[in-house]
Parts: sequence; structure tokens; C-alpha cells
Amino acid sequence: MRIIVVPDKEAMGKRAADLVQAEMEKHANPVIGLATGSTPLPLYQELVRRHKEEGLDFSTTITFNLDEYVGLTPDHDQSYRYFMDQNLFNHLNIVKKNTHVPDGLAEDIEAFCEEYESMIDDCGGIDMQVLGIGSNGHIGFNEPGSSLGSLTRIKTLTDETINDNARFFDKREDVPTLAITMGIGTILHARKCILLASGANKAAAIKAACEGPVTAMCPASILQIHRYETLIVTEDAATELTIRVER
Ligand code: F6R
Repeated sequence: MRIIVVPDKEAMGKRAADLVQAEMEKHANPVIGLATGSTPLPLYQELVRRHKEEGLDFSTTITFNLDEYVGLTPDHDQSYRYFMDQNLFNHLNIVKKNTHVPDGLAEDIEAFCEEYESMIDDCGGIDMQVLGIGSNGHIGFNEPGSSLGSLTRIKTLTDETINDNARFFDKREDVPTLAITMGIGTILHARKCILLASGANKAAAIKAACEGPVTAMCPASILQIHRYETLIVTEDAATELTIRVER
């Protein structure tokens, strides 16, 4: 694991954008896996800036998002499709049909999940997957206890994740309890992963992911066996690390 510690969120966004841009420039049709949540926002802001000011071209980029709530329409302001459109896709020259977010309204969710895996395969697999981490160590919506070999499927969210996400909804009861998520196995298939973390509330999860045992109880710990895994972590999220890091 390569662990890069940066002073703040802005620096995290820039370092991550450097890696994403370098990956995009290597492929005719780059396939980038994306996450939602507050953590990747500085990355998305930087990618939008590079597109607008430096001409970074997304016209041949294909994206796959990690997850989506079950039951929210794409125009619901807390759906992950809406989040991605508002925070990234609407500001780039990306072709909308090349942006994939799991369909939380799919009638046959199991069939949809299989199709999502096939779509990723048909595009040649994910070149670089961007990840955040939950305070309980989840990646995507793979909560503690998730099978380490899992593929895209429906998951029940833990109380901890519902509490974490309640801040985005009017009431805690409005937070959906089910989500479609790429599995841990899906994430491991990505040729490269970059995990971003910022904030003191992520310090324990980062410690467990990097220095704890590889265990389903901390899904992000599986990244210890990934062939190319880079963490970009702000100082306050890195306070519990004892291993050597880059600065
Ligand atoms: C969302 C996702 C989640 C988040 C995690 C952290 O697509 O993959 O695993 O990365 O819940 O969320 P934030 O960034 O809001 O702290």
C-alpha cells in the first residue's frame, strides 16, 4: 500500500486528480470507478477545474459508480445519480450514456446487478477505482461482515451508516435502508484503486484498514492485498497510523 499524507482536503483533491488524469491519459477509453459522499468532492472540483481551464478531455471516458440507494428516483436530491450529475458530470464534456450509476429503481435487482458486472466487463474492466471509506471501514456500501469475494448486489445498511448519512436527509427515517453496491470482489478486480479519506472521524478506520488484519469486519482492509492501492489521507485522518507514509 502506498500511503500519501497531505495537509488538507484541497491537497487531497489535487493529488487524486493527478492520478486520475494520468490514468485517463493512458487509455483511449479510460474506465474510471467513482464514489459519492463528501470525501471525493475536492477531487471532482479539481477535475472540473482542469476540464474548464486546462481542457482535460472526458469525451471518451467511461465511468461506473460504486453504489446507489434503492428506491430513490434519479432526480431525488439525495440519489447518487443526482449527486454525480450535479457535482461532476454536468460540468464535463463526458457523454452521459457513458456514465453508469446502479439503478436503484430496477424491478429485478438481482438481474440488474448481474448486468452491471457484465457492463463493467464489456468495457474491459475498471482501470482506476476511486474509493471513500466509512467510519466503520466500509467501502462502497460493503458493510462490516460483507463477503470479501462479493460482486454487485443489494445490501442492508448498518445503523452506523444510516446515522452517518442522516445529515443529508430531513429526518433519519428518510434515509433508505437498502442500497445496490459493487462488491468487494468487484472493487478488487479494478486494476488500480485510490482510497481517499479526510477528517478525524476517519482516523480509526484508516488505522484498521492499513495496519489491522485483513478482515471482513473492516472491508477496506482487503485493499492490503490489492496489487495497486494508493491511499491519499489528510493529516487528521492519519493520526493513528504508525507505519511509514509519504508526505
Ligand atoms: C459512496 C461510498 C461510501 C462513502 C463512505 C464515506 O459512494 O462509496 O463508501 O465513500 O460512506 O462517505 P463520506 O465521504 O461522505 O464520508
